[in-house]
Amino acid sequence: MSSIKVFAPATVANVVCGFDVLGFALHNPGDEVIMRKTNTPGVIIKSIVGDNGRLPLDPERNTVGVSVLNFLKHIESNTGVEIELTKNMPLGSGLGSSSASTVAGVFAVNELFGNPLKREELLPFAMEGERLACGSAHADNVAPSLLGGFVLVRSYAPLDVVKLPTPKDFYCSIVHPHIEVQTKDARQILPKQIFLKDAVTQWGNVAGLVAGLYQSDFDLIGRSLKDVIVEPVRSILIPGFMQVKEAAMQAGAIGGGISGSGPSIFALSKGKDTAEKVTAAMKSVFDKINIGSDSYISEVNAEGPKVIG
Ligand code: HSE
Repeated sequence: MSSIKVFAPATVANVVCGFDVLGFALHNPGDEVIMRKTNTPGVIIKSIVGDNGRLPLDPERNTVGVSVLNFLKHIESNTGVEIELTKNMPLGSGLGSSSASTVAGVFAVNELFGNPLKREELLPFAMEGERLACGSAHADNVAPSLLGGFVLVRSYAPLDVVKLPTPKDFYCSIVHPHIEVQTKDARQILPKQIFLKDAVTQWGNVAGLVAGLYQSDFDLIGRSLKDVIVEPVRSILIPGFMQVKEAAMQAGAIGGGISGSGPSIFALSKGKDTAEKVTAAMKSVFDKINIGSDSYISEVNAEGPKVIG
């Protein structure tokens, strides 16, 4: 094989209570990479579409470039690749935009070189892309994008990632308001220390959410979608946040909150019909306050990246 085209999905990281430890993959949107083998070592980023010229073509400064370069170094390859990247989601959206590109890149290069690494072994390479993107090698976007489904990052050192089940009829509504929040900024405003009572509330909710997923208990999942640490700080960056969340609940969602570091807001529902009503209700709040928005409805994507050409 000398050329491949790969799609990798967007993700919802944190899932309200699980800052840096929980995330799930969506069916849409997602980014695409076309990769070809070259006879010379290294990575050439030939083109990037959909970023309005904002992402660097220099592979050392590009999240896909860096991850693929590290992979090629790791397998001691004396040949290289050229990459065409198509971004189908906005930067700074809270949908794991940089992760989807990076995952598409590392998945593609592994396939192209005959799968020398297992899929989960690609995770550290993708995490280095996150470090370049925002200064922190968190895995709650890259892990679900790479492995598919709902994922728990139980530990970072050593890295220990656990796949969680997803209940049937579990739908996610996402509304992306046309404002931009940089993950780096959204991380800088977070407290360095928290009260023990808040930690107790938070880990109770994380455990409740995981139990709810195993038991397909929508009510328990909904009760657990509470964040007393990160959301109160970050929600001030998203105009209309509380009203959007309230509108989602009124329309029948079981819960929701900020997707990743925002500004996208997600809500979970049982059944597609409810998810459609929830999405419309969320979007109408942004309409009323004159903020343009895009919306998506997706089940959890169990597959992760896939070869599309
Ligand atoms: N867990 C990360 C954060 C996700 O909330 O900063 C960012 O995409």
